[in-house]
Amino acid sequence: MIPESFIQDLLTRIDIVDLIDRYVHLKKAGANYIACCPFHSEKTPSFSVSPSKQFYYCFGCGAHGTAISFLMEYQGLGFVEAIRELASSIGVAVPDERHDGDSSQKRETLRDLLEVMARARDFYREALKKSEKAVNYLKERGLSGETAARFGIGYAPEGWNSLKAAFPDSYDYQQLLTVGLVLESEEGRRYDRFRDRIIFPIINSKGETIGFGGRVIGQGEPKYLNSPETPLFEKGRELFGLPQARQTLRAENRAIVVEGYMDVVALAEHGVGNALATLGTATTREHAQKLLRQVDAVVFCFDGDNAGRKAAWRALENTLDSLTEQKSVSFTFLPEAEDPDSFIRKKGKKAFDNLIREAAPLSSFLINELKKQCDLTSAEGRARLVADAKPLLLRLSTPFLRLQLVKQLAAESGFSQAEVERLCGIQSYAPKPPLAKPKRSAPSLARTLARLALQRPALAGRIPLELLPPSEERAILEVILTNLPRLPSAPTYAQLREQLRGHPLEAEFNILAGEWMQLQLAEDKIEHEFLDALTRLQENKRKSEFADLQKKASQFGITGLTAEEKEHYKASAGKNRSDPYR
Ligand code: CTP
Ligand code: MN
Repeated sequence: MIPESFIQDLLTRIDIVDLIDRYVHLKKAGANYIACCPFHSEKTPSFSVSPSKQFYYCFGCGAHGTAISFLMEYQGLGFVEAIRELASSIGVAVPDERHDGDSSQKRETLRDLLEVMARARDFYREALKKSEKAVNYLKERGLSGETAARFGIGYAPEGWNSLKAAFPDSYDYQQLLTVGLVLESEEGRRYDRFRDRIIFPIINSKGETIGFGGRVIGQGEPKYLNSPETPLFEKGRELFGLPQARQTLRAENRAIVVEGYMDVVALAEHGVGNALATLGTATTREHAQKLLRQVDAVVFCFDGDNAGRKAAWRALENTLDSLTEQKSVSFTFLPEAEDPDSFIRKKGKKAFDNLIREAAPLSSFLINELKKQCDLTSAEGRARLVADAKPLLLRLSTPFLRLQLVKQLAAESGFSQAEVERLCGIQSYAPKPPLAKPKRSAPSLARTLARLALQRPALAGRIPLELLPPSEERAILEVILTNLPRLPSAPTYAQLREQLRGHPLEAEFNILAGEWMQLQLAEDKIEHEFLDALTRLQENKRKSEFADLQKKASQFGITGLTAEEKEHYKASAGKNRSDPYR
């Protein structure tokens, strides 16, 4: 757990405008900054960033959030990763990690290791230009120089110690061993891992080279050599081609997962820019999570052989947890003896696009694969179908999709829907009533106050909440008030919002934030509006008290009031007469 105070401190120190501007060019427009939204495709800017609230909001697609959410959405990072990224951008260590040893030293060495990788990458890339044999091989495989450059493809020369040339003044065996570029034999002889191979740099979402894949030129064993797991490189988390695919991923909102380096590269060559590959490993949960955070649709496109189907099944198992109702995952298989590379070269982009379009949705792939394992003509087989499906159904957190699957399983197995649910231990889905949200033309006083308090959370402390009737807005103000003591003084909306990550009223906060982003109330008008609203609130109170007294007086006569009440009544009556709102 990262301490709240650290997150708050971080949000105080960074500026969301600087952060977002690094990825999307922002233009000043009034108090805010605008750009074309990076989360949906558009021609005129509807993405707005507020420096005073440290918050972004897109009027087109509704994307919104803090600096932390931006990194999570844009780079597909997890919460902790996003914090780490923000922290490192201002050169501070995340406290949780401050304990384990001297982390400033650790960061120092990670930076050194990245530098080693970058040098090696540049060296390989230069070496490719000098190797006719390597260039010819790539040409034979249909790669243009452009695509090769886009993926930073290189060549590791022959010889046991060629890489030394990349480090004329700083050859550090230890570092090269650590990043896996150099190996040590039992006799202590050190030699380059990659020799006479085509090199595919593996680049993370920050653009750092963290590993390499090396292919033998022509025939030979092993066909591929890869960087081992190192402090920089965890296979199960990285995808080959991610930085190159970023733009297309966003434009198409779909990722295609293939098996090989050459598949990604060949697809890009033919205009399919959203393909990625796992690195000779099965698709892990981290992969699935990373992908489904960035796009709404993932298509696994694997070889049609047994190995490909197995890989697809593993992918299915590992995506179940990350699925949401809005996301779609599907599976498609290549004709026998083809892979995406050979397929697109022979048949072209159109045929490949069709293959993707015709991908089977997760639900049908799941049921069909399970059916293959069971003999549905026997009672045993039909029972097994449901038994096999059970663990998978339980991993799904999508009630609608799960219900669809349950119905299909019921139809296939001959059990009733209720029986399938009972056997699998599934609660049937009872929809929750939606939150009542009355339409408002003019906002209520409570809503105005809630909007203002969101923009400047400290204001919540000045509102006499007891004067507000119970409402969603009052609940929101109460939440703000209880959280104020844990926030820095004069917190921004972003700081409040991060404090409330995962809060049950999150959705309501988002709706309100959208409202005030739309209103564009100038910073220097906030206090004025707020005082005005407070005055109206007091006024309302006085009026309703006066109405009560009036009622009492008309019932019991003026003598029926206590001395204090009489005093009050007279004062109010005077005021009410001059009240222009009456
Ligand atoms: N792979 C690996 N080690 C091997 C073989 C394969 O790491 N010895 C990984 C590589 O990431 C490779 C992927 O598995 O890209 C798919 O393997 P394969 O289909 O054999 O290779 P292709 O990418 O199709 O390469 P090519 O077309 O050059 O044969
Ligand atoms: Mn291939």
